[in-house]
Amino acid sequence: MKFSKVCSLILASCMLFGAVGCGGQESAGGDNSGNQNGLVTSQEGKLIWATNATFEPYEYKEGDKVVGIDAEIAEAIATKLGLEAQVENMEFDAIIPSVVSGKADIGIAGMTITDERLNNVNFSDTYVEAGQAIIVKKGSDIKGVSDLAGKVVGVQRGTVGDSYVSDSANGVNVASVERFSACPDAVQSLIAGKIDAVVIDNEPAKKMTEGVDEVVKLEENLTSEQYAIAVSKKNEALLKEINTILGEMKANGELQAILDKYLSE
Ligand code: ARG
Repeated sequence: MKFSKVCSLILASCMLFGAVGCGGQESAGGDNSGNQNGLVTSQEGKLIWATNATFEPYEYKEGDKVVGIDAEIAEAIATKLGLEAQVENMEFDAIIPSVVSGKADIGIAGMTITDERLNNVNFSDTYVEAGQAIIVKKGSDIKGVSDLAGKVVGVQRGTVGDSYVSDSANGVNVASVERFSACPDAVQSLIAGKIDAVVIDNEPAKKMTEGVDEVVKLEENLTSEQYAIAVSKKNEALLKEINTILGEMKANGELQAILDKYLSE
């Protein structure tokens, strides 16, 4: 074979397998590699975690950095696995597809375990209990979930809040649902008087209303949910490691310390 032909073959396979496979040390295919525990992640030495950083206190941006409870949990897990955590910030409804496709190793996003999601991914053990809450303008006639009937309600697209108000089986009977890509945009729209209420998880609802004069979070919790880490169904080994680590972090107080750092009261 001529040299130029070999070169173009190498180039073609590099393009096929992506830049990762071209370092010369990778095994054929080059897109998967084991760390010292024999764990396989999507990129050698890395734990790529997908999230949507519009959800303070779980994940939000501070400058260019994604910080919050989930960021610290992701960092802690990666460190204990001897990997480097790398965040991929994306639309909330892109997180599960990216875990399924292997673009990300895990999804950590204040993500609630649901039956529908369990069709596509595995979930780790639970690390937080949460529920949906309602945000309204101060002085609103909406005092609880039964008052949402006939109202325009904002949610983050693809969240439990979205399905809760959208699914007629729940009997909420809203006039319409406005779906936002970022949680704070829903609250801005409420302040602007374009929608009547926002349904979103309780702790982010607290954060988004704290110190904001125009809006208030109602006391009532509409649901009772568990947050967990989404892992590809193809990576049982990673799921097992994560559950072991979460168990240790619960037992030694590390998880509680992270929660206490960000959660009020
Ligand atoms: N707990 C809700 C759900 O799983 C909302 C999560 C939104 N998370 C986020 N990072 N924006 O659907």
